[in-house]
Amino acid sequence: MSDDTQDHDDHSGSRRDFLYLSAGAFGAVGLGAALWPFISSMNPSADVLALSTTEVDLSQVEDGQRITVKWQGKPVFIDRRTPTAIEEAESTPLAELRDPETDEERVLTPEWLVVIGICTHLGCVPLGQKASEDRGEWGGWFCPCHGSHYDTSGRIRKGPAPLNLPIPPYAFLNDTSIKIG
Ligand code: FES
Repeated sequence: MSDDTQDHDDHSGSRRDFLYLSAGAFGAVGLGAALWPFISSMNPSADVLALSTTEVDLSQVEDGQRITVKWQGKPVFIDRRTPTAIEEAESTPLAELRDPETDEERVLTPEWLVVIGICTHLGCVPLGQKASEDRGEWGGWFCPCHGSHYDTSGRIRKGPAPLNLPIPPYAFLNDTSIKIG
C-alpha cells in the first residue's frame, strides 16, 4: 500500500467515525425527547402518586452546594444558594426574561432553590450541579445539547428552551428537610 493510499484510508476512516458519532449524538437526543412524554403518559393513579414522594435531608448541604435527588424517576436539583446567587436572581428585571417569573414565585425560602433538572427544550439533563461543570452565562445551569442557559433561579435566559426549569410540588417538613411530591 502506498503512502497516498494510507493517507486516504486514514481520512475516510476519521470521517466515518465522525459521521457515526454525530448519528449517535442525534440518536441520544431523539431518544431522550421520546422518553419523557412516554413516561408521563403512563402516570400512575392518585393513590400510587401519594406514595411517590421523596423526603430529603438537607442538614449536610453546605452553602453554595447543589445536590441531585430522584423524584418519580426525574432528577430534582436542590441548590443551597449563596447570597450572591440569590441577589442575582432577585434583581433580574422581568422584562429580560423569556418566561417571566420573579424569583420569589419560584422558591419557598430564598436560600433553597428546588427545580426539576430536565431541560425544557428536548429533555436533556443540564450541567451545573458540580462546581466544575459549565453553569452557563448566568451561573445557573447549561444544557449542552443545544446550548440553553438557565440563571440562578433556573429561569431560561438564552438558547432554544422555551420555559424555565419547572418547580416540583414540595414542602418543608422542618428547617432541614423537605418532602417532594
Ligand atoms: S435539550 Fe436542547 S437545549 Fe436542552
